[in-house]
Amino acid sequence: MPVELKPGVYWVGAVDWGVRFFHGHELSTHRGTSYNAYLIVDEKIALLDTVRASFAPELLARIREIVDPAKIDYVIAAHAEPDHSGSLPEVLRHTPNAQLVVSKQGAKSIEGYFHQGWDYKPVGTGDRISLGQNELVFTEAAFLHWPDSMFTYLTGHNIWFPNDAFGQHFATPFRFDDEACPEELATETLKYFVNIINPYSHLVGPKIEEVLSFGWPIDMIAPSHGVIWRKSPAEIIAQYREWAEQKSGKRALVLYASMWEATRKMADAIGEGLTDTNTNHKVIDVSTADRNDLNAEIFNARALIVGSSTINKGPLPDLAPMLIDLKGLKFKNKIGAAFGSYGWSADAVKYIEEQLSGAGIEMVRPGLKCRWQPAAEDLAACRTLGREIGEMLKA
Ligand code: FEO
Repeated sequence: MPVELKPGVYWVGAVDWGVRFFHGHELSTHRGTSYNAYLIVDEKIALLDTVRASFAPELLARIREIVDPAKIDYVIAAHAEPDHSGSLPEVLRHTPNAQLVVSKQGAKSIEGYFHQGWDYKPVGTGDRISLGQNELVFTEAAFLHWPDSMFTYLTGHNIWFPNDAFGQHFATPFRFDDEACPEELATETLKYFVNIINPYSHLVGPKIEEVLSFGWPIDMIAPSHGVIWRKSPAEIIAQYREWAEQKSGKRALVLYASMWEATRKMADAIGEGLTDTNTNHKVIDVSTADRNDLNAEIFNARALIVGSSTINKGPLPDLAPMLIDLKGLKFKNKIGAAFGSYGWSADAVKYIEEQLSGAGIEMVRPGLKCRWQPAAEDLAACRTLGREIGEMLKA
């Protein structure tokens, strides 16, 4: 069933309850997702975004409950990524009278995906399309999160459609924020921000300022995934501004991978030192952690104490995805230290230090190495390390 947001404005997308990964296996989606497409019926009719290709029949069926797709005047593709544009070929077959509206970069990326030579109408910041009573107003939003990303605002109804921004991979039976479980919504909103938006967090504040400078009233923020923010559009804007500053707080994480328990014992002893200083922290075995959930933990931490056993002159490969993310997601305002056990050479600790430094993490003390299994004095040194980091976080 379509869901009416405001008179003549409908959600016509699809809920994907079963999807457990996005971007291949890059992003876990424990709670599924939704592909939000919106139909705006005015004197002219516009479809804003489509859905993943396999959901095209659902999209077209929902549209047909409202209008004959052949009556659609504009199909707006805000972004080329296939979760939104995947149904374009099918939709355009059923909308022969529609103009395809894209961002300037979208004219290249969507053509690059589909090679159809469609008749694109590129729009940029400030461009408007009148639907009769109300207008669509466009804002380029390059790198939030792709170069072709574009925001759309609907006058009169005061709805901001920011495409992937403010989204969540969160399948729900309802479409609005006030209908969702608050804890689940908060978890998925943060996870989405960290794993998708955070690398471009320096653009978030300025883009929000730009949009607010237009002076538009915003009754709803309708993203392309998850629930629509109608109860608290101002709150999610404020939340994004705060997250974009990456202040990090005072938590610590002890993150490790261990072969024969030696590095794990070190990790636990470091955790005891953090407890000694009443430092909020977690000790996490990264080899069994969900990578994307872990990124959300990392986002909220100020100190990252990272350890691994040494194997083949380096760390355990279980550490590699996290180290790649630390660099790729561009976390800021973090301090770090390394630790690890070894038998013949302590190469893992050196490697971790290099990787953390390369990711912009300030290394605050020399790495801690333990040969074979930790003796009492090794564990005492680990506990001291934990206390030192804890005291730094209090300062
Ligand atoms: Fe939800 Fe960037 O696509």
